[in-house]
Amino acid sequence: AATIGLMGAMDEEIALLLKQVERQNTVVLAGINFVTGLFHGKEVVVCKSGVGKVNAAATTQVLIDRFEVDTILFTGVAGAVHPELNIGDIVISSSCQQHDMDATPLGFARGIIPYQEVSDFPADRKLVRLAEKACSKLCTDNSFIVGKVLSGDQFISDYDVVRELHEKMEGACVEMEGSAVAQVCHMNQIPYVILRSMSDKADGTADVNFAEFTVLAAQKSFEILNEMVAGL
Ligand code: ADE
Repeated sequence: AATIGLMGAMDEEIALLLKQVERQNTVVLAGINFVTGLFHGKEVVVCKSGVGKVNAAATTQVLIDRFEVDTILFTGVAGAVHPELNIGDIVISSSCQQHDMDATPLGFARGIIPYQEVSDFPADRKLVRLAEKACSKLCTDNSFIVGKVLSGDQFISDYDVVRELHEKMEGACVEMEGSAVAQVCHMNQIPYVILRSMSDKADGTADVNFAEFTVLAAQKSFEILNEMVAGL
């Protein structure tokens, strides 16, 4: 039977999900709690990876190897990079790339992984379409975009950096896990999509906004995920 891997990085990002998963059983691997159960009658594994690309990569590989998930959906918050995004708005990943991959001294463009064919990992088109459908239904003010998710092991809180991430790397939002999930999914040929609701604008006020809006934004991202899984 198909099993869906559902990931977040922080407690706030999976709290609502865990409340709704039935017949829960927890397995601990690599120090991560993997909660199996049923959600909308479907077999799921819910987990909190922890923050950053290494945590996200290791957790994703465990989901694939040990739980044999055939789809991975990530729900959480991000800093807005596209200038038209506001706090609470949704970004659906068209692809994910690491903004902190930097081998420019060797002549590689920023974000390019040396000696590798793909550095900008495309999300599954069917999952993107399903996410768009969920957003069209639930985001009444049409406050969502499909765009590139940029990830790095940095909390961004500088407007100049944000502008660069948009102008030079064509990012829609910035966070710390999506590209690691995307890369591991690509290596294993597992379809994925990242859903992110904006908790801040990654500028000088990002720390304050992140603290204030993360719970609300995480809730919005969960609502989209909820609608998506119902339709899978
Ligand atoms: N997640 C939420 N806001 C973020 C930011 N400003 N930078 C990195 N990750 C984030």
